[in-house]
Amino acid sequence: MFVEVRIGFAGAGSPAGDAVSSSVRRGTSSTPWCDSAEGMPLVSARFEELDWRETPIGLISLRRRWDRALERDVHEIKLDEEFLMSSLFTVAEVELARLGLAASSAAELDVVVGGLGLGYTARAVLGDPRVRSLRVVESLGEVIEWHRRGLLPLGSELTSDSRTRLVHGDFFDMAASEVGFDTGTSRRRFHAVLLDIDHSPNHVLDPGHAWLYEVEGLRRLAEHLEPGGVFALWSDDPPSEEFTAALSEVFDTVRAHVVTFDNPYTGGESGNTVYTAVLGHPGRPVGESTEPPTA
Ligand SMILES: C[S@@+](CC[C@H](N)C(=O)[O-])C[C@H]1O[C@@H](n2cnc3c(N)ncnc32)[C@H](O)[C@@H]1O
Repeated sequence: MFVEVRIGFAGAGSPAGDAVSSSVRRGTSSTPWCDSAEGMPLVSARFEELDWRETPIGLISLRRRWDRALERDVHEIKLDEEFLMSSLFTVAEVELARLGLAASSAAELDVVVGGLGLGYTARAVLGDPRVRSLRVVESLGEVIEWHRRGLLPLGSELTSDSRTRLVHGDFFDMAASEVGFDTGTSRRRFHAVLLDIDHSPNHVLDPGHAWLYEVEGLRRLAEHLEPGGVFALWSDDPPSEEFTAALSEVFDTVRAHVVTFDNPYTGGESGNTVYTAVLGHPGRPVGESTEPPTA
């Protein structure tokens, strides 16, 4: 069953923008899958490269530019000449946290986020008062450092919250390991794992990530979850029947939510998918509510 969540950018009414589209967030050159209009290029006069580093995967750089059409600062992270992330496209990143945590009935939550990026998913997690701990696993030490140095807008908010741990490591290695996502506490289980690293289950950043999106990989990941635990995933593609079927082999309640939002560069609409997948509780029939019955 698909649920439509319609949220527009605040103040993003202008069709003008520069030459990038929503798909730049993942560095792809393909047309966003539910756009409805073309945008006009506009060059910004104010541009600042805040930092750049050589890494084993290429040159990573952080830039801030003033978008004249939208009248706001935009932060972007590039890997070589590809755009990895933009602070203009964060609606579905926030929805990943909101929909993922809404699927949990636990009173207190220990959460893992895979992929720190600009930190919008992580900040939305911290907005849920049930969250008592958050571990954000990020493979690029530079991205963690930019947050710690306050070069990114959400950095101080994330790092000053005592619930947050920014963990430098490979999400997929941790998911595959018996120890799991907390090397200090072997086999620690979490109430929710929210993942936003690859473009989609079918378009992975690294061929070494593909195993996770198959039934055995999902089973492995589910071993790090509490009973009733949630796995949620951001995807740049429309809902995939094949992936939904794989999730359903492992989890008890699976949904693909289409999240649409205004694209200020095209003047049209773009969309992402957020999958939520919930484990059952032993002894409780699948789908049975934890809410007290209403009179
Ligand atoms: C698209 S961004 C995440 C965006 C984030 N949801 C937000 O709200 O800004 C993906 C992040 O995953 C990181 N990443 C890539 N491969 C990874 C891996 N194997 N393990 C952990 N993080 C990884 C990237 O460096 C990047 O910071």
